[in-house]
Amino acid sequence: MTRHATITGVGSVLPPNRVPNTWFEDKVETNDAWIRERTGIQARHFAEDGVVTSDLAVEAANRALETAGVSPAQVDLIVCATVTGDTPFPSTAVWVQQKLGLSCPAFDVNAVCAGFSYALATATGFVEAGMADTVLLIGAEIFSRILDFSDRQTCVLFGDGAGAAVVQAADRPGIEGTVLGADGSAAEILIMPGGGSREPPTAESVAAGRHRVFMPNGREVFKRAVTEMAAACREVLEKNGHSTDDVDLLIPHQANARIMTAVAERLHIPPEKAVIDVAEVGNTSAASIPIALDRAYRAGRMREGDLVVFTSFGAGLTWGATAMRWTMPPPIQDRA
Ligand code: ACO
Repeated sequence: MTRHATITGVGSVLPPNRVPNTWFEDKVETNDAWIRERTGIQARHFAEDGVVTSDLAVEAANRALETAGVSPAQVDLIVCATVTGDTPFPSTAVWVQQKLGLSCPAFDVNAVCAGFSYALATATGFVEAGMADTVLLIGAEIFSRILDFSDRQTCVLFGDGAGAAVVQAADRPGIEGTVLGADGSAAEILIMPGGGSREPPTAESVAAGRHRVFMPNGREVFKRAVTEMAAACREVLEKNGHSTDDVDLLIPHQANARIMTAVAERLHIPPEKAVIDVAEVGNTSAASIPIALDRAYRAGRMREGDLVVFTSFGAGLTWGATAMRWTMPPPIQDRA
């Protein structure tokens, strides 16, 4: 019998410290109205000092496991999408494994804001190949630790948080398919230049802010995000025998409300069928789709059998889209 994969549990967490747009007004030349109008963001959450990425990841993971009714001991693979992990190595997935007291394989995926798509494709592949039955898939970021708070173009965009999904073997899909893409020729337009073998950390590189987010061409990132996410959605729908009319819910990477609206418009998907939930969260990079997914699920936005499409875009450039039939029952409070 063909093995399929599906999502059986979701969970997310935002750190309690809510940071409104006005917080930036005395740091850079910006204002609440500009940020709201250009991004749809009203606030984001920043982790307190001492909180590390795996702390958020474990909280989201425990919620997802609880929703799935799966005990941590059943997990036979942990995949964590992050670029702001606890340590450059070992992986954040390993810190999560330690905190959950498990002994299964664990590794990270680096595709920046497209991390969830890449990690979901990985989890699906492991399950379909029979190499895992229960994968704990996490997107977790603490971007506040790598922001340049003197750069108004980037510092207002990002937030911290974590989202998780339990991906399990099933006798029917579930996850119908994922398409992924990358364009390394545009690698320089969104980058943390320092800290790797190209620019190892030195006192000078730290002082020059080379270990922080650098986006020399935000407009180009915006344009490519719209083009690539819309194209990836069309491709994954077509490959799985659907048209854009069949989509019940679109969950795009929560970068910017204008980007998400433009993607939905290009696909002729009405706004009420798109999850645009960036206002209180900001852009949480690899965590953004699983956070939006969990919040949409708990808000009762999907029913069993719905065609749900996730799409992401990030530095690399990287992007992806997944088509899935939603198989989870409604959240407990909504069950009749
Ligand atoms: N406050 C006030 N003014 C600002 C700010 C700010 N925070 N940031 C930029 N501006 C200024 C610019 O300097 C520019 O001023 P100028 O005309 O004097 O040069 C003016 O606003 C207009 O700048 P644009 O770049 O044209 O503004 P735009 O409407 O494109 O919005 C933004 C800028 C929000 C960065 C947009 O380009 C964007 O969202 N790009 C995508 C970036 C992104 O989301 N990156 C995240 C990672 S990738 C991803 O997740 C998809």
